[in-house]
Amino acid sequence: MMKGAALVLALSLGLPGTRAQLTPSPTYSPPSATQATVTSTATPNAQWETVMGNSLWFYDAQRSGNLDQGTYGNRVSWRNNSCTTDGSDWGVDLSGGWYDAGDYIKATFPLGFTLFALAWGGLSYGPAYDTAAQTAYLDGTLRWGFDWLMRAHPSDDQLFVQVGSLDVDQAYWGGDLGIPGPRTAYPVNASAPGTDVWASTAAAFAIGALLYQGVNWNTSSSSHAPASLANQTYAGQLLKHAETLYNVANTTTQAIYSNSVPAIGQAYTSSGFGDDLTVAGLALAAATNNSAYYVDAYTNYQKYALSGKQSVWNWDSRTPAAFLLFAEISTARPGLPAGAGLEANVSGWQKESEAYLDAIVNSHLQNGFMTNGGLLYYNGDSDEASLNPALAAAALLNRYAPLASSTDKASSYNNYAQSQLSYALGDNPMSSVYMVGQHPNSPQNPHSGLAAGGSNINNIRTDPETEAYVLYGALVGGPLKTDKFWDWRDDWVQCEVALDYNANLPALAAWQLLNSSSDPYYVQVQGGTYSIPKGEPCDAALSCRSGVSKGAIAGAVVGVVLGLLVILGLLWWQRDRIRRWRRSSKFAQ
Ligand SMILES: *[C@@H]1O[C@H](CO)[C@@H](O)[C@H](O)[C@H]1NC(C)=O
Ligand SMILES: *[C@@H]1O[C@H](CO)[C@@H](O)[C@H](O)[C@H]1NC(C)=O
Ligand SMILES: *[C@@H]1O[C@H](CO)[C@@H](O)[C@H](O)[C@H]1NC(C)=O
Ligand SMILES: *[C@@H]1O[C@H](CO)[C@@H](O)[C@H](O)[C@H]1NC(C)=O
Ligand SMILES: *[C@@H]1O[C@H](CO)[C@@H](O)[C@H](O)[C@H]1NC(C)=O
Ligand SMILES: *[C@@H]1O[C@H](CO)[C@@H](O)[C@H](O)[C@H]1NC(C)=O
Ligand SMILES: *[C@@H]1O[C@H](CO)[C@@H](O)[C@H](O)[C@H]1NC(C)=O
Ligand SMILES: *[C@@H]1O[C@H](CO)[C@@H](O)[C@H](O)[C@H]1NC(C)=O
Repeated sequence: MMKGAALVLALSLGLPGTRAQLTPSPTYSPPSATQATVTSTATPNAQWETVMGNSLWFYDAQRSGNLDQGTYGNRVSWRNNSCTTDGSDWGVDLSGGWYDAGDYIKATFPLGFTLFALAWGGLSYGPAYDTAAQTAYLDGTLRWGFDWLMRAHPSDDQLFVQVGSLDVDQAYWGGDLGIPGPRTAYPVNASAPGTDVWASTAAAFAIGALLYQGVNWNTSSSSHAPASLANQTYAGQLLKHAETLYNVANTTTQAIYSNSVPAIGQAYTSSGFGDDLTVAGLALAAATNNSAYYVDAYTNYQKYALSGKQSVWNWDSRTPAAFLLFAEISTARPGLPAGAGLEANVSGWQKESEAYLDAIVNSHLQNGFMTNGGLLYYNGDSDEASLNPALAAAALLNRYAPLASSTDKASSYNNYAQSQLSYALGDNPMSSVYMVGQHPNSPQNPHSGLAAGGSNINNIRTDPETEAYVLYGALVGGPLKTDKFWDWRDDWVQCEVALDYNANLPALAAWQLLNSSSDPYYVQVQGGTYSIPKGEPCDAALSCRSGVSKGAIAGAVVGVVLGLLVILGLLWWQRDRIRRWRRSSKFAQ
């Protein structure tokens, strides 16, 4: 009764996102992993459709709030409504949205990256989503995220950046029925500014607006149309939030949000905002055709000395997306730089983008290398989740290839991207297929409190022995730099799941659907060939010294002490005989 009344109220108020999604046809559910070794002869390739479909399904499994909201409803039978009173401490409705990772926090800064990447893919590879019958799911996923972000931005400067606190969150392991509440929500605002999170959220809204405008983003002679989900009303709503947030970021005292709101704790700290401001300026320029935003982007690119940066692409590091957006805009919207009194400078932005991408494909990174098994690895950034940086790079390489200054470069970019995607999908020394539920060799123990089915925080690894639910489509953190992978549920470095880990998978699958007739690598991987390596992993989740775990060290110490006691005991017991022996040996001299 309450539910019906709330729905009528929501409809009459025209709240964003209520009953506005496309209807999937046909509907999609993840197939059994046993289907993974069946070669696809269909066009487009059915296995890549599964990769795309599962990677989007994962976002449904991460939903928070009332799961029935939205036209296609809840696809994940084992999930329940949860945290429906989020935001009540501020009188704001912050229910909905997604849990960011394997626990229960909702985090706005990384969400900006996820929505940006999902929307950017939909903008440039539309026919792939359409022919795979995934456009309605892309629409539903984007709206689920953007609708929440709009609620998290109730007034110009106020943006809620986190719901749930780290200490409460880390003390609970279990399903969605017992999540501790009521939960605290944390905003930024004019007196506690968050330039990075304002700008990052503005960038996501702006790319979302560009996608929902349904315009062709012609960045090259082989560009594709956007996914068929155009809706000018929705585009307008997204753009309004983008412009407001950007204006606040551009005119308020500048600060790093995690310094302004230290109470959020250490999980989602930010390192700066120059990259976020630049990307937001470019995305807004593209979505509005207003050169003022382009001027800002170019100014910030120079002010923050972004040129030549080799950094990873992730939620705290946006510079690589700026390089590509400058290049894309110089081709797709040359009027923007012109309106700013600047040159489109296609070849200049090609140079900037190619310097970045060449360092990756030619292994000239200052701060990265390729593992023996063939995974692109950034020191530091890859240590707590190795696949995410590599697949983010792959998505940039595929995306840029059609803009490359030579066909040789284009093919080297696409080949390198292929190698990283294939690594993630089974072409690795473990023969592991790092998407959950995709293949018999996929991880069985993703670090997800929702999927695990246990509630014993002191024994996450084996209580229960078998994960209760299959978290289809989730990319896990991934192997260590040795290419070894322990499928242990308590090892969050290797086995955790997260919104941003999956963010580039739909676009990578879309590229394959448009450009390749071959199967994903996992089709040729024989089931049962993965096994947990010997020894213990040394990572931030299960730290150990020189390959020996704390438990092993403690065991060794106890063993040595016991051994000494036994020897002392024997000596005591045999003391008379020893005395005799010492005496006799003395006399023998
Ligand atoms: C377009 O989006 C708006 C806002 O979400 C929604 O109210 C409307 O129903 C959508 N229109 C169509 C045709 O889907
Ligand atoms: C949802 O509720 C059912 C009981 O109704 C429970 O068995 C299931 O584990 C719950 N799901 C999660 C993710 O906690
Ligand atoms: C602004 O945000 C800070 C940090 O979250 C918070 O402590 C403060 O209460 C907020 N101010 C208002 C007026 O909402
Ligand atoms: C560019 O966009 C137009 C529509 O504005 C479309 O007709 C055309 O095919 C596109 N060109 C390319 C090369 O993608
Ligand atoms: C921006 O310009 C392009 C053509 O260059 C046009 O297709 C698009 O609709 C314009 N966008 C807006 C928001 O005016
Ligand atoms: C951002 O702020 C700068 C400096 O105050 C100003 O020159 C610029 O026009 C602003 N950008 C926009 C898009 O309003
Ligand atoms: C174009 O880009 C190149 C390389 O980044 C740069 O050296 C040059 O100054 C730029 N030209 C203009 C007119 O902006
Ligand atoms: C797909 O490959 C063709 C060459 O076969 C290339 O021209 C095109 O740019 C590629 N498309 C994308 C989106 O990279």
